[in-house]
Amino acid sequence: VIDDLRARVQEPTARGVAHAISAAIADGTLEPGQKLPPIRALATQLDLSPTTVSAAWALLTRSGAIRTDGRRGTVVALRTPPGPSRYRRVLTGRSSSAGPGNGLRIDLSAGVPDPALLPDLGAALGRVQRLPAPQTYLDEPVVPELGDLLRAHWPFPAEKITITDGAMDALDLLSDQLLRFGDLVGVENPCFPQLLDLLDARGVRTVAIDVDDNGLVVEQLRTALDRGVRIVFTQPRAQNPTGASLSADRARALAAVLRGRGVLVVENDSAGAVASAALISLGRWLPENTVHIRGFSKSHGPDLRLAAVGGPASLIDGLEDRRHLGQGWTSRLLQRVLLDLLTDHMSISQVARARAEYSRRRRLMVAELARLGVEVGGSDGINIWLPVIDEAAALVGLASHGISAAPGGPFAVDPNPAPHLRVTVGLLAHDHTEVARALAAAGGAVRWNAPR
Ligand SMILES: Cc1ncc(COP(=O)(O)O)c(C=O)c1O
Repeated sequence: VIDDLRARVQEPTARGVAHAISAAIADGTLEPGQKLPPIRALATQLDLSPTTVSAAWALLTRSGAIRTDGRRGTVVALRTPPGPSRYRRVLTGRSSSAGPGNGLRIDLSAGVPDPALLPDLGAALGRVQRLPAPQTYLDEPVVPELGDLLRAHWPFPAEKITITDGAMDALDLLSDQLLRFGDLVGVENPCFPQLLDLLDARGVRTVAIDVDDNGLVVEQLRTALDRGVRIVFTQPRAQNPTGASLSADRARALAAVLRGRGVLVVENDSAGAVASAALISLGRWLPENTVHIRGFSKSHGPDLRLAAVGGPASLIDGLEDRRHLGQGWTSRLLQRVLLDLLTDHMSISQVARARAEYSRRRRLMVAELARLGVEVGGSDGINIWLPVIDEAAALVGLASHGISAAPGGPFAVDPNPAPHLRVTVGLLAHDHTEVARALAAAGGAVRWNAPR
């Protein structure tokens, strides 16, 4: 490797070394995971100063070509990070595979809002008139009136609020800014798979913190902090998948554990305006250490793909700066549409109706399941977290009724999770009795070869 690199280095600078290593990675001479020589040894062999090689390492690390791997030293990074593998597994049981059964064809696997309950986008598009063109690509990224409206309703006095292309975009930008390979973060257990996929792709290690009906379990948060987590990701209400919402008493207890630890809390209020529970944000107690994300996909439409993110100015400024390396800002046209939907009376009442309807659908299903002896927790949102004996058997059982749901495995942070299905009951307008019966029966099903 050294001879090869010596031949490739065309100029004795950090850039020259970085180009030589990049070329060796590109043609396969250096393979993903391969250990690179220590800086001093390489410097000696290339007749360069250790400072030059060290600067080359910094360039390569920033570009993602190499990374440090604890005691192994510096290694060649994976060429492509793993994709959304958990999220893909969630979608494997969709109704295309559902059998004939009793003729129902009901897809409750996807965790998406009911299109029939979204506000009327066409009307809003019609109302949004000609927009002023941006003067430069560095203009203020948030439409001012939308920023004012969000600030007026933010759950704590955030120093700065910006708009992103959905909650996942906000989480991606925040983790890009805050997390490095090998960092330790706290996540809810169970947790929505897209976040676990994102953290996996960044090589971040997760510590599971269980969620009960009132939010994160206090003692488990304390243990996670003692283990050195730097950031805790949480959903304050209508948690996906459990439907749990943070209570005021629990929030106070969590804030007491977090106070003075310098740990950042990233709150993802993805259900937003369609959640029935009051929004209780840890930012009320820890405004300097909380970043809060408000999603609009569930309430106003996944295709608007908008979220607001607010917190410490230094963090939000960094996020906006980083965005200028990519898409720059979120379409102001879409921001205007959202502003219209948030202020138009008809749209406001459509969202209120959706909130009430999701609540009715969830309560109906929970009550039907309770009559059949199946207890599910949580109280809010579009999903239930259904305990089953065997996930695969339950999915096959449901498919025979023409129903699909998501397997619980991809939501688990623990290696040996209790089997569950996530069922998006918010999509079910009627047939609650029949579907509850199918869910209860499927939940009790055991695979023929399952260990008992
Ligand atoms: C908890 C949670 N966060 C974020 C998202 C994605 O939100 P967005 O469409 O705003 O990126 C989802 C989507 O289902 C979700 O359940």
